[in-house]
Amino acid sequence: MEAEEVEGGFEPSVLGTREYWDAVYERELQAFQEFGDSGEIWFGEESMTRLIRWMEKCNIPLDASVLDIGTGNGIFLVELAKLGYSDITGIDYCPLAIQLSGRIIEKEGFSNIIKLQVEDFLHPSTELSGFHVCIDKGTFDAISLNPDGAPEKKQQYVQSLCRALHDQGFFLITSCNWTKKELLEEFGEGFEMVEELPTPTFTFAGRSGNSVTALVFQKK
Ligand SMILES: C[S@@+](CC[C@H](N)C(=O)[O-])C[C@H]1O[C@@H](n2cnc3c(N)ncnc32)[C@H](O)[C@@H]1O
Repeated sequence: MEAEEVEGGFEPSVLGTREYWDAVYERELQAFQEFGDSGEIWFGEESMTRLIRWMEKCNIPLDASVLDIGTGNGIFLVELAKLGYSDITGIDYCPLAIQLSGRIIEKEGFSNIIKLQVEDFLHPSTELSGFHVCIDKGTFDAISLNPDGAPEKKQQYVQSLCRALHDQGFFLITSCNWTKKELLEEFGEGFEMVEELPTPTFTFAGRSGNSVTALVFQKK
C-alpha cells in the first residue's frame, strides 16, 4: 500500500477511502465464493509470524482479549484461534470484509470463538474497550491516506485506541508508510514504545533501510 511521499507526509490516495475497500472486498468475497481464495494477507505471512512470535515470547495469556483493528479477511484472527487464543475480536468498517472474514472463519471452524463486528474505528461503539492487546496491520496506514482530513482522522485514531486498550495494554502496529520516528511522534504521548520488531531490510545504492516498520507500544 505504499503511497506517494511528499514533504510532511503522503499524498492522499483512494486507498484511504471506504469506496476503495468496499470494491476490494466485493472482489475478494466473489473470489472466495468461486475459488475458495481467502484473499490478500497485507505484508505477507511473515507479518503474522512476527506478531505471534512476540506474543509467545511475552507470554501473552491465551485468555487475553485481543482486538484486530481493520481485520480485512480475518486471517490473523484464525491464526490466533489456532494457537488457542479464546477472546479475539475483529472489526472492520467495511461490511463486506466482515462478511468475507465470517465465511473464512466458519470454514476454519472458529465461528464460536472469534467475534466480528462492523465498526468504524474512528467512531467506535462504547463496548469497544478494555482490550489487553490491539493489533493494526495496515489500517492506520489506510486511514492516514484519507483525502478528507487525514490529520484529524489520525488524532481520532489515537483517541479511539486509548479507549479500546486496557491500562498497560499493548498495541502492535505494522506500517509501510510511516517510519519508527514518525510512529513515535504519532503515538508517543499516550503510549510508550517497548520494542521494535525486526523486519526485512533492503540495500540500495549502498544504503540500507526497511520498507516495513513493526512496533510494540504499551499504554501509559
Ligand atoms: C491494508 S488493509 C489490512 C487488512 C488486514 N489488517 C491485514 O493485515 O490483512 C486495511 C483494512 O483497514 C480497514 N479500515 C480502514 N479504515 C478503517 C476504519 N476507520 N475502521 C475500521 N476499519 C478500517 C479496511 O477496510 C481494510 O480492511
